[in-house]
Amino acid sequence: MTTSPREKNAPRDVNEAAIIAAKSDIASGKNSKKVFIKTYGCQMNVYDSERMADVLSPIGYAPTDAPDHADLVILNTCHIREKAAEKVYSELGRIRKYKETNKPDMKVAVAGCVAQAEGAEIMSRAPVVDMVLGPQTYHKLPEMIAKVHRGTGQLLETEFDTLEKFDELPELRQPKGFSSFLTIQEGCDKFCTFCVVPYTRGAEVSRSVAHVVAEARQLAAHGVREITLIGQNVNAYNGLGEDGKEWTLGQLIRHVALIGGIDRIRFTTSHPRDMDDDLIETLGNEPKLMPYLHLPIQAGSNKVLHAMNRGHTYAEYKELIAKIRAARPDIALSGDFIVGFPGETETDFQQTMKCVEEIGYGSSFSFKYSVRPGTPGAGLPRQVPEDEKQDRLVRLQALLYQQQQDFNKSLIGQTLSVLVEGVGRKDDQLFGRSPYLQGTHFDGPKDLVGQIVNVKITDAGRNSLVGELA
Ligand code: SAH
Ligand code: SF4
Ligand code: F3S
Repeated sequence: MTTSPREKNAPRDVNEAAIIAAKSDIASGKNSKKVFIKTYGCQMNVYDSERMADVLSPIGYAPTDAPDHADLVILNTCHIREKAAEKVYSELGRIRKYKETNKPDMKVAVAGCVAQAEGAEIMSRAPVVDMVLGPQTYHKLPEMIAKVHRGTGQLLETEFDTLEKFDELPELRQPKGFSSFLTIQEGCDKFCTFCVVPYTRGAEVSRSVAHVVAEARQLAAHGVREITLIGQNVNAYNGLGEDGKEWTLGQLIRHVALIGGIDRIRFTTSHPRDMDDDLIETLGNEPKLMPYLHLPIQAGSNKVLHAMNRGHTYAEYKELIAKIRAARPDIALSGDFIVGFPGETETDFQQTMKCVEEIGYGSSFSFKYSVRPGTPGAGLPRQVPEDEKQDRLVRLQALLYQQQQDFNKSLIGQTLSVLVEGVGRKDDQLFGRSPYLQGTHFDGPKDLVGQIVNVKITDAGRNSLVGELA
């Protein structure tokens, strides 16, 4: 970069002025505003919502779980399927009514992937919205809020400058619990023909190793024991290493594993094409890395995989899984599946069923194909009728859910390490996560919250495990 962020980003003066004014208000006790952030979509958005809270804290906004009391409401949105995007407009309708009758000075922002994809449309469809900001512009929130309060009308910020966002976000992180997401990579260059992500999040960009490690250290200092390194294509990570070279995800994981206090590491979401030997070896050799891998295939038919532009065949995926299992025999696999991609016949769908039977998944996410305007899939002939998609989804989910249940039941009698994340609904009931990510309930004293304990599994359902302290 030739220009310093200060020269490049002139409105920072407004930003700084707003922050200084707000800080003096906080110091004088004049200002304690509330922000309600509602998060839709993937882990990237969960992380971004936390970071928005970090940005707003120095200007006097404290998070609240009650939208009714909020001075600022932020919807952090998802555009991945039609339903996800439509939810935003119905929520905005509710907010408008509430604002009109109870809180006319409430400010409303729409962030995230719907903001990026449909920014102008949101502003015209929902005049209640004061600010629309894309996923790479969260550091500009204080400046935008200051402008809105000065009465500038609706504001739209949807520039792409991923690294600028990370450079400008404040250092302080206030993690909520003992397990935290850490974004190491954003964006996607894969252009699967069904997917909006390359358009809403932009090109693949990796944060430097130094940045990632500094943030991981901060999280550890705040008591975080488990970090999930996240990215739309996390295993395409190629951030600048401490030796001036590009580092792989495997290298980064081994480096993060050296940080005291961090006992568990996960990473998601990986693409089969970027699963290199070094990462597979790291899965086998790094004890802090949990034995769980989310590796979506989407469909089992080579014809459909090709039409989706996934860049690999089913045989290649199967071979990859065999390699991963050889390196880490106890690994639990998770996957994403789409049924009813344009042109998918019953025979193609049977290939997806065969894939699930042959591979075996411990957990999964499965969806009906949803037409996304602007993606190549939307223009393809032979769209599959809704009732057929529904029928395929029901059959696929019956198989996937059975596998999930069987996998959970196979753990009965085993002793698993559980990171205790909080207390359960009943007195003395604790809740945590197993290495395989299932929610696990067991009895124990509250002071175990934040610890990693051994739990003997005594019962299992499809979604969770029950056990007792071992
Ligand atoms: N980067 C990840 C996935 C991100 S989106 C990957 O490559 O696997 C999460 C999941 O949503 C996808 O894996 C896919 O299964 C699903 N998805 C994405 N676009 C979709 C669409 N148009 N219709 C239905 N499901 C979709
Ligand atoms: Fe979407 Fe494909 Fe990129 Fe995943 S790899 S984010 S499914 S385009
Ligand atoms: Fe949704 Fe955007 Fe994530 S579209 S799945 S919130 S990257």
